[in-house]
Amino acid sequence: MTHGSDLGILKDKLANARSITVLTGAGISADSGVPTFRGTDGLWRNFRAEDLATPDAFTRDPRLVWEWYNWRRELIATKQPNAAHQAIVELERRCPRFWLITQNVDGLHRAAGSRRLSEIHGNIWMVRCTACGHVSESHEVPIQILPLCSLCRNLLRPHIVWFGESLAEEDLRRSYTALQSSDVCLIIGTSGMVYPAAGFASIAKEAGAFVAEINLDPTPQSALVDMSLQGRAKDIVPLLLEPC
Ligand code: OAD
Repeated sequence: MTHGSDLGILKDKLANARSITVLTGAGISADSGVPTFRGTDGLWRNFRAEDLATPDAFTRDPRLVWEWYNWRRELIATKQPNAAHQAIVELERRCPRFWLITQNVDGLHRAAGSRRLSEIHGNIWMVRCTACGHVSESHEVPIQILPLCSLCRNLLRPHIVWFGESLAEEDLRRSYTALQSSDVCLIIGTSGMVYPAAGFASIAKEAGAFVAEINLDPTPQSALVDMSLQGRAKDIVPLLLEPC
């Protein structure tokens, strides 16, 4: 349930902010019909993301990992950005210093029109060669298992940051710069369980930003943020753009 006066305060903060950073997680795409990772509909053949999104899992059984990504690719291919994705595009348009950090690999922010963004966990429509490192786009649904590199014929993997792997340095640098210089930071639809993104709210807070969380449920971040708005991203985020 959203508190009306809180909404008014946040709208005012956003309207007056010179710099805004937004962090999103699977919850924003849940409203487009993409399953979250830690909800029960995120399970595939009873595997958790932590069982499959790892370099070890891929070394052990690349076919199984690709089958999981094919399941996700098939699902995501049919989905469209929702009102929350669109509202973030509008925030970017209005604010001169804006940065979007997303943990989502579904590409829905780009599809909506977001341009100033870091996809810190990668993108499900990109593949990378395990031998030569060549990165390319692939929109094949389903992708042919096992997919091979067009340059060197070695095995391709999803161009996604897996558990135990490091984020790209450029993405981290941009994210920290944005978080540390933002007047307002919105944390939308993330469980706050996966680092480093789980630490981003406190980085923004320590740097002096007003930090607001928008989530269906309370999270580990709820206690440290300045404001916690409970509800669906697609219902709440568009309200933030309405006149104060
Ligand atoms: P999770 O699945 O862990 O959390 C989704 C969050 O969204 C939960 O806190 C839900 O309460 C919330 N939520 C669900 N529906 C919502 C809605 N309609 N509106 C607002 N909030 C809603 O997803 P992430 O936090 O994004 O990494 O997970 C982080 C990372 O863990 C992912 O990027 C992924 C995963 O393993 C990789 O794949 C590398």
